[in-house]
Amino acid sequence: MLQKNKLNGLSANTVQKPVIEVIDICKTYFMSGGLSQSVLKNINFKIFTGEFVAIMGPSGSGKSTLMNILGCLDRPTSGDYLLSGDNVAKKDDTALARVRGQNIGFVFQNFNLLMKRTIADNVSLPLIYQNVSEAERRERALKMLEKVGLTGYADRLPSQISGGMQQRVAIARALINNPSIIFADEPTGNLDSHTSDEIMNLFTLLNKQGITVVLVTHEEDVADYADRMIKITDGRVSYDGLRKSYQAGAELAYQEQVKQKTFVEREAK
Ligand SMILES: Nc1ncnc2c1ncn2[C@@H]1O[C@H](COP(=O)(O)OP(=O)(O)O)[C@@H](O)[C@H]1O
Ligand SMILES: [Mg+2]
Repeated sequence: MLQKNKLNGLSANTVQKPVIEVIDICKTYFMSGGLSQSVLKNINFKIFTGEFVAIMGPSGSGKSTLMNILGCLDRPTSGDYLLSGDNVAKKDDTALARVRGQNIGFVFQNFNLLMKRTIADNVSLPLIYQNVSEAERRERALKMLEKVGLTGYADRLPSQISGGMQQRVAIARALINNPSIIFADEPTGNLDSHTSDEIMNLFTLLNKQGITVVLVTHEEDVADYADRMIKITDGRVSYDGLRKSYQAGAELAYQEQVKQKTFVEREAK
């Protein structure tokens, strides 16, 4: 089942339920003085278990805004977001935090580590909110560090390891709750290309183990690790399909298809 999804990328003809279903999501930021900015405009897509998706698009196109909604760090202004079938679009902060803790790992561009805490403490931090004992937190942190190739680094401080290693720590922290999905917003944005490749190989490995991976990047070679690409332009989906078809020039064909579809829908009304 998983293989089939990965082969067609879009999973259009499987009976499996999507793990993520975004329905007509809009996001408007309201600023002081009555100003507002419409950042996401009627976004729709589904993502199935086991997919590896790159979200791309120019700076300011709304990628982080979308990612924060997908990662339950923020809510859409309108529209629905079904995460494993559960509509999280209108949940309050406490409920969203619970969903994050159970289902989701999030990785940021700037690692977001606590610089005065050891690496093991950083990794096990999410477990504190779940009343896991100190001994078990330590044990699970060591296991996760092993998984990301950082055995032996548990008692160092983040400042004592390289940027690539710090991002591995952040990934270990994202994995500590055994999430089914990992979201990463420009996870290689602060890393050199060799280190980026190492991090992307780690995401690929996690994906092969069954974790759904959704990442934002503006780097073409980082996106090449993904099977599927969703491109956002001016707050709208301007391409959604196989990454390699995009490279073969499928973006215009996609937009033509969307235009046709919108036309047919308009005609049907
Ligand atoms: N909290 C916010 N309040 C107001 N405007 C915001 C906020 N976050 C982002 N924006 C605006 O929304 C637009 C999209 O931002 P963002 O989602 O960060 O884009 P990207 O990640 O694609 O570069 C930008 O014009 C940005 O200034
Ligand atoms: Mg961004």
